[in-house]
Amino acid sequence: MPDSSLAVAQPVKIILDTDPGGDDIFAFLWVLSLVKQQHASLVAVTAAEGNVTARQTFTNSKQILELTGFADIPVGRGVSLQQDLKGDSRAEHIHGADGMGNLSQTLPPATCDYSSAIQADELLIEQLNSNPGTITIVAIGPLTNLAAAEIKQPGILQKAKEIIVMGGAFYSAGNVTPTAEFNIWFNPEAANVVFDSRDDIVVLPLNVTRKLVFTQDMAETVIQSNPHSPLAQFVVQLCQFMIGTTLEYRETSGEPGFLVHDAATLGYLFYPDTLMMQRARVQIETQGEWTKGQTLIDARQCAKPQSNAWVALQVNAPSFFTNFIEDLKYLIAESDS
Ligand code: BDR
Ligand code: CA
Repeated sequence: MPDSSLAVAQPVKIILDTDPGGDDIFAFLWVLSLVKQQHASLVAVTAAEGNVTARQTFTNSKQILELTGFADIPVGRGVSLQQDLKGDSRAEHIHGADGMGNLSQTLPPATCDYSSAIQADELLIEQLNSNPGTITIVAIGPLTNLAAAEIKQPGILQKAKEIIVMGGAFYSAGNVTPTAEFNIWFNPEAANVVFDSRDDIVVLPLNVTRKLVFTQDMAETVIQSNPHSPLAQFVVQLCQFMIGTTLEYRETSGEPGFLVHDAATLGYLFYPDTLMMQRARVQIETQGEWTKGQTLIDARQCAKPQSNAWVALQVNAPSFFTNFIEDLKYLIAESDS
């Protein structure tokens, strides 16, 4: 009998729903490294409104793909929220006015026109209908695009193989209000739609992502094989920028580094032994005067027959970073000098 463990694994098909965003970019680069190593195939990117405007996250996604030689990957433009957003709902103060540490001018320009680009919910629907049961959605921004797809075609999210979300905070402080995490708080109604769409949503909350402090030394290690390449320079400068705002907003208890929240999703997908997961029913506060966007799981001793999620509550950070750093090194070593 052939040893089936020796069979070549098929690359994991991924749609990345993202609002770049400094930490989004590090997750994005990790995916692209895994694509280069043939562990993943990135079928599409859907840009989400969140850290910066939908227009800006679209442009940023295109620029990252240009910079890394993946310009052919389709990008959908984010669905805008219905209500008018005040500028201070977004997170330019953390990620820079352009969402990329004010480094967008240093990157190749985006080659595609925003207004004629396919809308993110349409792209999700199209891809999930043509590849039912095979695509993993990695959602690292507010869940507006996913919810819009589900509302437009009820049941569409069931066609994903898996949905992995960076979001929420359980028995733990929020990062945008005392109780809420940014991605869920930004559009709690959308999060509700997504968590109601299936019973196996994978959630990477602040409980684990607060342990993922990426330092300037790590960035230097990542770029050492090809330090002068445009990608290496971008990584180091973005890291520097993110560390500055992270310290200013006291997100790491003073440790000089920044939190690679969004990369936790890829840790789960490709290095699952770095995380401990708990089965739970996740509920989202959409009404609270003070608690909008809070995520809850029930820790009482009683039967809970309606679980809808797997929630990560512990991470082995050294092991996570071993894998993260080695994969980023691979991408930089392979990048154009
Ligand atoms: C999440 O909020 C955003 O600012 C980050 O990109 C991440 O997705 C962390 O709460
Ligand atoms: Ca994000």
